[in-house]
Amino acid sequence: RLAEIHGLVRGRLKLAAVTTAEYFVPDLLGSFAAAHPGVDIELAIENRDRVVGRLAQGQDELVVMMMPPDNLPLERLEFQTNPLVVIAPSSHPKAHLPIRLNDLAQERWLMREPGSGTRMATEQHFQQQGFVPSVAMSLGSNEAIKHAVAAGLGIAVLSRLAVCPPLWPVVATSAGEPGPADPLTMLQVEGFPLNRHWYVVWRNDLPLSAAARHFLHYLQSGS
Ligand code: PGA
Repeated sequence: RLAEIHGLVRGRLKLAAVTTAEYFVPDLLGSFAAAHPGVDIELAIENRDRVVGRLAQGQDELVVMMMPPDNLPLERLEFQTNPLVVIAPSSHPKAHLPIRLNDLAQERWLMREPGSGTRMATEQHFQQQGFVPSVAMSLGSNEAIKHAVAAGLGIAVLSRLAVCPPLWPVVATSAGEPGPADPLTMLQVEGFPLNRHWYVVWRNDLPLSAAARHFLHYLQSGS
């Protein structure tokens, strides 16, 4: 107990995160690891379906995801917003204009692979709106989608974190030079951004290690 209070907790912290969380979870781990040098951290990154499979088998103690499943005994802590935006090439004729989803009915849409939470959230929203997209292609990562959109293959819904990762401006300006012109833009579509959230979830029927409890506390208090 005393060791824990003084930040000397030891052990292994097994985490998993959905692919879209890879843009910020390592950042969060940075300061946690610095404050808890005795904790060995293992982070798995998979899409939503695979992360849910790992949760079902109790493979990880804590999981960062946007859409926790209903069919497992879970606790959850909401800790950050996750706006989902529509991205298009910067040269798109509707860039900077307020538009509706139906104005994009003729577009070719690029979707994440089946099993992705981003795809699930996008499909749920389209269904609620009665919008039937013409899906040109499925791609297996956020980066592949960004490159395909930049190459003019279509438009897509992605987490804003994937579009403007927190580290990107630092990297682009580190040499004191202006960054390259951004090939992507966020369209101003009515109903967007979709206001989703990040949760950390854990099995309430399995014990949590001291390291996991400390990580939860760190997420809640920011220290
Ligand atoms: P994914 O992540 O699209 O990488 O699966 C989104 C989520 O499920 O939170």
